[in-house]
Amino acid sequence: TKRIIVAIDGPAGAGKSTLAKRVAARLSFIYIDTGAMYRAVALWARRTGVEWNDLQSLEQLAREAVIRLEHDGRVLLNGEDVSAAIREPEISQGASIVSAVSGVRRALVAKQQEMGEIHSAVMEGRDIGTVVFPNAEVKVFLDATPEVRAQRRVADLQGRGLPADFDEVLREMKQRDERDSTRPDSPLRQAPDATYLDSSHMDAGQVEEALLRIVRERT
Ligand code: C5P
Repeated sequence: TKRIIVAIDGPAGAGKSTLAKRVAARLSFIYIDTGAMYRAVALWARRTGVEWNDLQSLEQLAREAVIRLEHDGRVLLNGEDVSAAIREPEISQGASIVSAVSGVRRALVAKQQEMGEIHSAVMEGRDIGTVVFPNAEVKVFLDATPEVRAQRRVADLQGRGLPADFDEVLREMKQRDERDSTRPDSPLRQAPDATYLDSSHMDAGQVEEALLRIVRERT
């Protein structure tokens, strides 16, 4: 059987990770969270004192980083489990800053293409359908209103016992979306041949069924 790529793009908090995990499990595909890779590079830069405007060093970190996305969802950076550290709000913003650097994108996109080479995969991010796998068999652009996305993020943080203020989360999310959508290299965009899915009034199970229907149609 042929290798299949399911590309899921969309803004922060739209539910891409939940959807990608569920669909990957249903189809027995691997799940690839590309945002975790940008987060890992941002974390490494932060820890080593590399400034956000030092483009050359950021690119070098991205090239040298050994990032492993484990089947159980853990993220390893150079062998260390950084799953929790990369979810800090400061690293969310940092990821959005380093991801605007073309050299960083080149390095990580190459790794992502390699990961999707052999196994069928559900890959989520901002540029999967437009840049990483423009020939993906299935492409969806998952969206929701900013308020719904912020509310989900708040619930998610609180569920993990972390403090979360709705207004603060909404503000940071809009800032990140703005940066991701306006950068010159690989801005967040719906691919022309992607299916638009608005999850504002759907639960996770309904979004999963909607995507599985699209997968069945396309493969
Ligand atoms: O998906 P997540 O919110 O974890 O991604 C963190 C940041 O990484 C995004 O805000 C975006 O700036 C960047 N990113 C990207 N391209 C991807 C995935 C994530 O630029 N394919």
